[in-house]
Amino acid sequence: MIYPFILSGGAGTRLWPASRKAFPKPFMPLVDGQTLFDKTIERIKQLPSAGPLTVITNESLRFLTADALRGSVAKQPRLLLEPTGKNTAAAIALAALDLQIRAGSDALMLILPADHLIAEVGAFSEAVQVAENVANQDWLVTFGITPQSPETGFGYIERDAQPLALEEGVAYRVRKFVEKPDRETAQAYIDSGRYSWNGGMFCFKVSTILAEFERHAPELLAACQVAVEHANQIHVAGMDMVEFKADDFERMADISIDYAIMERSERVAVVAADMGWSDIGSWTAFADASPSNAEGNVFDGEVIAINTNNCLVRSPHRLVATVGVENLIVVDTPDALLIAHKDHAQDVRDVVAELKARG
Ligand code: GDD
Ligand code: MG
Repeated sequence: MIYPFILSGGAGTRLWPASRKAFPKPFMPLVDGQTLFDKTIERIKQLPSAGPLTVITNESLRFLTADALRGSVAKQPRLLLEPTGKNTAAAIALAALDLQIRAGSDALMLILPADHLIAEVGAFSEAVQVAENVANQDWLVTFGITPQSPETGFGYIERDAQPLALEEGVAYRVRKFVEKPDRETAQAYIDSGRYSWNGGMFCFKVSTILAEFERHAPELLAACQVAVEHANQIHVAGMDMVEFKADDFERMADISIDYAIMERSERVAVVAADMGWSDIGSWTAFADASPSNAEGNVFDGEVIAINTNNCLVRSPHRLVATVGVENLIVVDTPDALLIAHKDHAQDVRDVVAELKARG
């Protein structure tokens, strides 16, 4: 059995104004009406060995999350509720400590971000099965995606030339893990042909990940242990919820699992996982993952387009007309409208920063 965990705490600021603090990216409907969160749950349901699900999220999202879970999973889900986001290292350490109490140190964890799109669910299930075997041999398993372009928002994984000796499946020891390299470095990695993107999903045993935290991030682990000891366990809306105390989060380091553990550990392995993966990290990624028309446009809502090419227009509430434009992103919501050039899709996060600064 493998215990799935969904990480659902990030803000998704590059998908503003459809993704908001109170209504973040995993809950934003896609062109087909389903959300990324719904799709993540469906993927988990396809796994033959999946045990009870846990979602790690911000306490302000508990009801949105509980609603999304209701009726969708057979076994009772569990919610770990953070008073503030302290990034993925803390979230994963808390998850491992919580599972250790419930299921012991040999339990297997599958960590899944709530905001990825995977087109080939069968390929995902197969990769997870291989990962389970490798994780049982004390490896921290990552999922390697064939890189398409020198993206700077991903981790890059260099693997050994020879695969690990396994009875079943193919996996490689990771020689080097580099989180978010600069563009030049990313291009060199791609040219070498030896690197894959880190898919942001992980599989490991409770004992393996806790030993690596002990070695590479002992202070963070100690802070998480205190938080777990002080946590409040409640049962609300038919779900077990664990509330952590704000005081215990204050002293926790804000660092991702990639920087805290994956870059430093010598126990990292990679399983090839080409499965139509996209992290929908920006509006251009959203457009690329959505069905487009003959002119390369993605329209979601009522649109009149004249001489319009390669645009994304999302407007569920009112008619939008575009004339003589190309490579534009137009996202309309009741209280905010975004108009951006596709080449600047990453900079949408600056709008959110500006809004925050204005208070
Ligand atoms: N519960 C919780 N708490 N979840 C969090 C927190 C937190 O404080 N911070 C982030 N998350 C969730 C996000 O919602 C997302 O589902 C997942 O954890 C990963 O965090 P991101 O912030 O989206 O990471 P990233 O995209 O910059 O980088 C990671 O993913 C890439 C692939 O998409 C890394 O693992 C990269 O190496 C990887 O290539
Ligand atoms: Mg991400």
